[in-house]
Amino acid sequence: MRQDWFSDARFGMFVHFGLYSAAARHEWVQSFERLTDADYRQYFEHFDPDLFDARALARTAKETGMGYVVLTTKHHDGFCLWDSTLTDFTSTVAVDRDLVREYVEALRAEGLKVGLYHSLIDWRHPHFTLDWTHPRRDDDDARDLDAGRDMAVYREYLHGQVRELLTEYGDIDYLFFDFTSPDEKDGWPGKGPDDWDAQALLALCRELQPNMLVNDRLGIPADFVTPEQYQPTAPLVRDGSPLVWEACQTLNGSWGYHRDNTDQKSATLLAQMLVDSVSMGGNMLLNIGPDGRGAIVPRDAATLSEIGTWMRLHRDAVIGAGHSSFVPPREGVYTRRGNRLYLSLFFWPMGFVHLPELAGKVAYARLLNDGSWLRTSVSDPGQEADLMTPAGQAEGTLTVHLPVQRPDVLIPVIELTLTD
Ligand code: GLC
Repeated sequence: MRQDWFSDARFGMFVHFGLYSAAARHEWVQSFERLTDADYRQYFEHFDPDLFDARALARTAKETGMGYVVLTTKHHDGFCLWDSTLTDFTSTVAVDRDLVREYVEALRAEGLKVGLYHSLIDWRHPHFTLDWTHPRRDDDDARDLDAGRDMAVYREYLHGQVRELLTEYGDIDYLFFDFTSPDEKDGWPGKGPDDWDAQALLALCRELQPNMLVNDRLGIPADFVTPEQYQPTAPLVRDGSPLVWEACQTLNGSWGYHRDNTDQKSATLLAQMLVDSVSMGGNMLLNIGPDGRGAIVPRDAATLSEIGTWMRLHRDAVIGAGHSSFVPPREGVYTRRGNRLYLSLFFWPMGFVHLPELAGKVAYARLLNDGSWLRTSVSDPGQEADLMTPAGQAEGTLTVHLPVQRPDVLIPVIELTLTD
């Protein structure tokens, strides 16, 4: 199945890098501040990614426990990180570097799957019609400007660039298109699947890279769905069948480098979001926005390193794992890999954790961080507690005995080996 490697990996890295990284105030800065192409030009003229080190990026992803990486080839500002022959708004023209090539080669060298992000929206192309996202939408002559544009010309450019990316860089494992939003807003239309000729674009992807996964943001169903900056609360299902899904998440609310945004999520919260996603049969794509020089920001490197330390000991609860139909206790979530059930404890209870339905079904229990055996017992519903025995629990409950000291890891995980 096309998505086997993806559902196995569970954890990937998103990388937003471009001219906006130098502006350092959100990747939508051109739209938010209504900057003209001339205003924005300084970030092109002074683009200097001297610390963009694709190998270091790939190594960091691997050390964090991630199985794939997804890089912005072009974001909404239209700037291209590869040697496109269809525009001169590229990193090759700016600094004589094909960053996409550096990136795909580095990923393959580390054995990671290669993902690309490509913006459907393009604020720089002269035939991309104005919509509610466009930086020129509030100009006095916005309507006149729009009237002279022809989306068919842009569409050809879009398809041409996707063709370049899918023919010049070897096998691509994953493509994240972004984004389709047909609804009108603030008196301007949005853009729907017809604007991209989504069917033809998807067919082009299938023709050029038959094994590549494509996300759902062309506005038509493809291989997986993409909740953004929120966590689902149950496995995602459509017409009764489970969906392949991946939640994309930021470290601080911005995708592109945002220097003054200090809304950094803790490593604990992020590890919880990861294991929570896996418990619902999903993936997590965690974003970093390298800075204006292309370096991984120290605060991000520190967060990733904490997650990596946790992943080294707990990867079995994430990689190759998925949803379990057992109902977890209130302290945490289950993930399952074959006959192993993993209980990630989001809070540490005193002395015992009680697992409904599992009496007689567990052959062995241990803490995953240090492999230490955990005593288990079954207490009768009417049983009286004494110093060594917990009070009775509902029929079929398995009680796992815990040390008072919570293991010093982001999230303690109990591994339960099931009897069948
Ligand atoms: C949104 C934003 C964009 C970001 C993307 C990531 O659609 O427009 O800036 O790249 O989400 O999923």
